[in-house]
Amino acid sequence: MKKIEELDLEGKKVIIRVDYNVPINEKGEIVDDNRIVESLKTINYCLNKNCKLILLSHLGKVKTEEDLKTKSLKVVSERLSKLLGKEVMFIPKTRGIEVEEAISNMNEKDIIMLENTRFEDLDGKKESKNDPELGKYWASLGDVFINDAFGTCHRAHASNVGIASNIKEKALGFLVQKEVDNLLPIINNPEKPFVVILGGAKISDKIGTIKNLALKADYILVGGAMAYTFLKAKGISVGKSLIDEESIEFAKQMLSSTDKIILPIDHITNKDTENNNFTVKDMLDSDDIGLDIGPKTIDLFESYIAKCKTLFWNGPMGYYENEVYQKGTKELCDYISKLNITSVVGGGDTASCIINMGYKDKFTHVSTGGGASLELLEGKDLPGINL
Ligand code: 3PG
Repeated sequence: MKKIEELDLEGKKVIIRVDYNVPINEKGEIVDDNRIVESLKTINYCLNKNCKLILLSHLGKVKTEEDLKTKSLKVVSERLSKLLGKEVMFIPKTRGIEVEEAISNMNEKDIIMLENTRFEDLDGKKESKNDPELGKYWASLGDVFINDAFGTCHRAHASNVGIASNIKEKALGFLVQKEVDNLLPIINNPEKPFVVILGGAKISDKIGTIKNLALKADYILVGGAMAYTFLKAKGISVGKSLIDEESIEFAKQMLSSTDKIILPIDHITNKDTENNNFTVKDMLDSDDIGLDIGPKTIDLFESYIAKCKTLFWNGPMGYYENEVYQKGTKELCDYISKLNITSVVGGGDTASCIINMGYKDKFTHVSTGGGASLELLEGKDLPGINL
């Protein structure tokens, strides 16, 4: 796949697949616009080449008629317009005469955003199953295709793979290129010692990534609810902490095959998640819920981080939705931000958490891709990159 700089873009109609699948709260407000901010480089580059831009993205999963009301990209087009200081024309359709007329009336440097590509999923999952007619139709709307939706690169959908297979001139955008440039060296050639921090709740959807990282890393520091699955696998009391029951066997296998896994030695704990009067304990009682790593664990984890040259982090260290239980994550952020190392954060919750705490610029790279970054680190070829 070409790089964007290799294309002749001057004055062309450019279809850009962006990933504007951003978190939106109950009031319909965007909670984290990092993915939109990170897409600006490619958009501005194309505007400087006098292109007409046609933006496509999905937003959430679309399964019911109700989703058509709550998953519109209109609010995203407004945020993009604000960030660019320029009009972004939103077309509330994914295809048809309204789309085609709007495109034929475009002037150079105009930007159009179509409605959520997954609105096409209501009728036979056309977007998600890469319906051949849909990809061909979207490809027919422009002269050139740029894939800048890293977060969606692990999916083979009509709006990435489908368009790419129906258009000759295509390339990866700056956002995707930056992700690949920062993430691939992590597994291919990490400067040693290489430390991985893992957290969050689920293990089952990260098994391939954990296995691959265990081959490359010197130490894997496990916090968050994930740690309780490992502690339970070791036969240590986890009280009522959240665990991933179906992954206990995997955790046992990992612990018996490697001594790289470092687990918490104390916990911030409470009897219920919304109560803020926590206690610190080395061992959990049967009715305790572990909600964050404790101070001794923070010191222990920092002693490993202090020695590393490369660090990869995926998953918060505690129940970060409640500020009281963000301390472990925040203290590690603070510690890492003072070190002169390569530090890469996987996307999803960890990225949102670190950005909201104000540490984005303190890391070498904060990925915009959740599942996509994990699959890349698992060693998989992503269909959206190998177009
Ligand atoms: C993501 O947020 O991980 C991407 O936008 C992909 O979304 P999906 O998991 O709904 O396909």
